[in-house]
Amino acid sequence: MDNRPVGFFDSGLGGLTCIPYLMRSLPEEKIIYYGDTARTPYGSKAESTIRSFSLEIADFLVKSNVKMIVIACNTVSATCLDDIQEKFPSVPVIGIIEPTAAEVAETCSSGSRVGIIGTKVTVASHAYRNLIRSRNEGIEIFERACPAFVPLIEEGIIDNEIMDLTIRYYMDDFVHDSSLDKIILGCTHYPLIEENIRRIYPELDIINPSSIVAGRIGQVLRDRDMLAEGSDFENVFFASDLSENFINMIDHIFEKEKVKVKFLNFDFEKERMRRNEAHEL
Ligand code: DGL
Repeated sequence: MDNRPVGFFDSGLGGLTCIPYLMRSLPEEKIIYYGDTARTPYGSKAESTIRSFSLEIADFLVKSNVKMIVIACNTVSATCLDDIQEKFPSVPVIGIIEPTAAEVAETCSSGSRVGIIGTKVTVASHAYRNLIRSRNEGIEIFERACPAFVPLIEEGIIDNEIMDLTIRYYMDDFVHDSSLDKIILGCTHYPLIEENIRRIYPELDIINPSSIVAGRIGQVLRDRDMLAEGSDFENVFFASDLSENFINMIDHIFEKEKVKVKFLNFDFEKERMRRNEAHEL
């Protein structure tokens, strides 16, 4: 038994889409979430920048005494999962891509035509394609970067025509020319536009990694005898910029879960400045 919280992080609010699945499957677990809303999006940044932001956040979570780290971000999982695992050997660290790839490889038949949509960095890494095909060579993989989705979602532009047009702009030829049967939402922000995608392409089978990772979290905690029991820890949501959008999205996502949450601001830049000023005094 281990009543410490599970740590999650993402470049912004996308990783929040994983949390309701964990709360439903393991209701005793408590969480600390960090959304790097001040520096989002990560998906078009240099790998070295993504790595340095991610190591900083992982360090923050470890210092906050989490029992495991869930990289609720495909972009970070595709670029620096190994670096985080190496730097923090005292806690289990899992990414979101490998559990999804394992499930797709196991459940999709040979000849399936699977599309992956994600950020530029995730798509350029071919992390999904390589992991799926190393387990099931018969699956046909197609990849498409959709870089404008994340800024629109972070702005709350979801349920309207602008988002639908943007989806069509990136996906119409991709879905039709590749004759896809399934699509993986390869960015944790995308489940927030899952309904739009379903409405525009009703024939597509949608695979949501945010729902799959909860199963892997449970498996890791069970294997290590680290499941929580009666923890009184309050779920905490940190953001580097505690914006109205971030708070509204949490309210929206957790409306159905009816959980108590606490919001806190933690900005690494401001913290560095504060420390430097204290040092100068
Ligand atoms: N939600 C993230 C992902 O899963 C990152 C998106 C971004 O910051 O560009 O890739």
